[in-house]
Amino acid sequence: MKALIASGGHGTRLRPLTHTRNKHLLPIANKPILFYAIEAAVEAGIKEIGIVHNAGNTEVQDYIGDGSRWNVKITYIPQLTPGGLAQVVQLAEDFIGKEKFVFYLGDNMLVGGIKRFIDEFEKSGCNCFLTLSKVKDPERFGVPEIQNGRIVRVEEKPKHPKTNYAVAGIYLYDYHIFEAVKAIKPSARGELEISDAHTYLIEKGFKVGYTEITGWWKDTGKPTDLLEANRLILDSFTQRNDGEVNQFSDIAGRVVIEAGAKIINSKIRGPVVIGKNCIIENSYIGPYTSVGDRTEIVGSEMEYSIVLRDCKILNVGIRIEGSILGNDVEIVQAQTRPRVHRFMIGDQSRIEVV
Ligand code: G1P
Repeated sequence: MKALIASGGHGTRLRPLTHTRNKHLLPIANKPILFYAIEAAVEAGIKEIGIVHNAGNTEVQDYIGDGSRWNVKITYIPQLTPGGLAQVVQLAEDFIGKEKFVFYLGDNMLVGGIKRFIDEFEKSGCNCFLTLSKVKDPERFGVPEIQNGRIVRVEEKPKHPKTNYAVAGIYLYDYHIFEAVKAIKPSARGELEISDAHTYLIEKGFKVGYTEITGWWKDTGKPTDLLEANRLILDSFTQRNDGEVNQFSDIAGRVVIEAGAKIINSKIRGPVVIGKNCIIENSYIGPYTSVGDRTEIVGSEMEYSIVLRDCKILNVGIRIEGSILGNDVEIVQAQTRPRVHRFMIGDQSRIEVV
C-alpha cells in the first residue's frame, strides 16, 4: 500500500493567505495542514508516499523534505498546470505501479486516522473504496447517488444533490483507477474530475464500495473551515509548558506553551497553543487560539483565531475573534492624533471594524 497526496492548486478561496504560500502549508494548531495527511499515512503503516505539487515551486519540498523525519520515502511528482484530481492520479501511475494506494487530498483533515479505511478496503475486495461524510452543503463536493446500498453514480458539485453525503478526499484504489482517469473527458470547468473516474468504474462493472466517516472530517477550503479545524485539533491537545509563565499570569485548561515563550501578567484559557519565543503580556488569550512562533501580543484580547509567526498585536482596544492573521502582520494602536484607523493591507484582505 502506497499513499498519494495532492498538494497542488491555487487555494483561491483562502486568499490573501495563499498569495504567498501554498494552502497546504497553512498551519492548523501550529503545524502545516499537509503534515496531518503525511502523519495519517505513516500511522497507517505506509512507507512510500508520492506528493503531487505545483511544478516550478519547491515550497512543499522545502517544508517536507525527503520524509526521513517520519521514516518514510517521499517522491515528488510535479503537476505542470492544475487539471483536476483525476489528472493528479494520472501523473502518479509510474510511482504507484500495480500497488494498491490511498489517494489523500492534502487539504482534508480528519480525526481518527485512515487505518480503518485501509483495512475495510483490503477486506472488501473492491477496486475503489470511497469514504463518505454527511454534510450540510453537499453541492460543494462530489456526491454519491446510492441505490439499495450501492453507489450507482458520483456527481461533482451537483446543483441538486441526490444525498447529503460528500465523497471525502480520502480514496482507496487498485490500479484500475488508471484506466478510468485516462478514459474520462474534462468537465464543464475544464478539469478531469475524480467523480467522473468513479462513475466510469461503476459503469464498467468494477467494484466500488464505501464506508461512512462517522467522526469529524473537513475539507479546509474556506477560512471558516481553517478555524474549525484548528478548534478540533486543539481540542485533542494535552497541557504542556516549556516556556515561562510569571506569577501574575493565570493559565487554565489545555494550554501548550512552547520553549522560549514568555507569558507575563496575562490570562490564557485553553485549548490554546503559544509558539516558540512568543511574548504574551497584559493580554487575554481565549479558547481555540493558535499563536505562531515569535508573535507578540501585548495589551490585547484574542480568541478563536489563528495567528501565524512574527506578528505584533499591540494594545488593540477590542477583542479579536474568529480571525486569521498571516506572517509578519501588525495590528497596533495608533500613537498619534487624530484617532483614526490606518490600514496598509494587501490584495483580497478582509477587515471588519466596529
Ligand atoms: C474535491 C473533489 C470532490 C470532493 C472534495 C473533497 O473538491 O473534486 O469530489 O468531494 O474534493 O474535499 P474540491 O476541493 O477540489 O472543490
